Amino acid sequence: MDEIIRVQSNGPLSGEIQVEGAKNSALKLMAASLLIPGVTTLTNVPNIADVYVMSEALTALGVVIDSPAPHTITLDASNLTSYRAPYEVVAKMRASTAVLGPLVARSGHASVALPGGCNIGSRKIDMHISGLEILGATCKIEHGYIEALTPTGLHGMPVSLVFPSVGATENLIMAAVLAEGTTIVSNAAREPEIADLIDFLNTAGAQIEGKNTTTLTIIGVEELKPIEHRVVGDRIEAGTFIVAGCIAGGTITVSGFNPKHLGIVLDKLEQTGAVIERLDRGVRVTATDTIKPVDIQTLPYPGFPTDMQAQMMAYLTQAQSSSIVTENVFENRFMFADEIGRMGADIRIEGHYALVRGNTHLSGAPVVAPDLRGGAALVLAGLAADGATEVSNIYHVDRGYESFCEKLQSVGARVERLDRDV
Ligand code: UD1
Repeated sequence: MDEIIRVQSNGPLSGEIQVEGAKNSALKLMAASLLIPGVTTLTNVPNIADVYVMSEALTALGVVIDSPAPHTITLDASNLTSYRAPYEVVAKMRASTAVLGPLVARSGHASVALPGGCNIGSRKIDMHISGLEILGATCKIEHGYIEALTPTGLHGMPVSLVFPSVGATENLIMAAVLAEGTTIVSNAAREPEIADLIDFLNTAGAQIEGKNTTTLTIIGVEELKPIEHRVVGDRIEAGTFIVAGCIAGGTITVSGFNPKHLGIVLDKLEQTGAVIERLDRGVRVTATDTIKPVDIQTLPYPGFPTDMQAQMMAYLTQAQSSSIVTENVFENRFMFADEIGRMGADIRIEGHYALVRGNTHLSGAPVVAPDLRGGAALVLAGLAADGATEVSNIYHVDRGYESFCEKLQSVGARVERLDRDV
């Protein structure tokens, strides 16, 4: 069914929203289950489309997946039956390339479709491949697939990343845990979801040192044991709702995540005048009527997350004057700016800089979600707009947000999903 999200301004928000486990962690933990010849149990797994796609990718490899309770999945990777992640699945979700490292480590052979183009920049995987080659895999690209083979197994080596790529760091960690000898990954990414992967693997018997730092030392072990693990709370889902509160006005509590994981986002929101109270497992945010402009530059963690850039830009259209947003992580991640422009925003793009004019009167309009975070940000913009905003292509939003509309409704937002022709 082709659905849209219709959103209208409805005054200040109040109440509490609970976030789910992190999409970007759950997907990698699911892939990491390939390393374990037994049943892995994950709890706090978000009920989102990307989790279903990863389940599809793993099922194609022979993993038997079940969901004995809401937000809990079991993954039995005792008997892998294939080493091929087919194009039909990888094309749906780039993150399915996370099976490359664990599959080659466990099976000695991985055949993973190249993900192809993506609408937020070229998103290459050259670092994933060159890292695996340093560990001894032979990689070649044939018929649109990366074929990775380890005739003599993987061997620990120093690997230095030219950029702290999240996906390359994760693939290398997962490849190295079962390698012979010690791998040292330098210039590693240190997003909280990577720390979650390290915790998961270490509990299963891996020996990874250097969590939360840029240098990881991975001492290969023979085998990992089945475990149960709770997925870390989703800082980006949390950040999205916090910005919703800042845009719509009022006071809301967003819980189920570690506020330290949103450090710089919360600091920037405070600089705009919002009042943020950091709680044990969440924050209470009170919006300000006089939003001060702030400049933002996206960077690898602990820098400002690129996954919060669009939501923040929507908010900054309501600031008293202009802000500059610099995107340093992805090329072409400003498609959102064109769409919000249809609502009256004035955002000028020059290379990887965006000048966001403040003091803009937003007016509701039909808009198209350009990607996952851009889609959510358009809904947030609709909270401040005059009249109804109708966001289409909301399958993007469903990829990463569970019950997005229901959660916003629960704090008083006027937002609903409708069939397109209603
Ligand atoms: C992950 C997150 C995504 C987030 C991003 C940055 C998941 C499923 N997705 O994506 O939500 O926005 O981190 O925080 O976890 N690059 C290369 N060569 C490579 C790998 C990356 O050039 O081999 C470049 C990419 O094109 C991009 C930049 O490095 O410009 C960052 O990519 P990376 O950190 O790898 O992001 P993802 O793992 O794809």
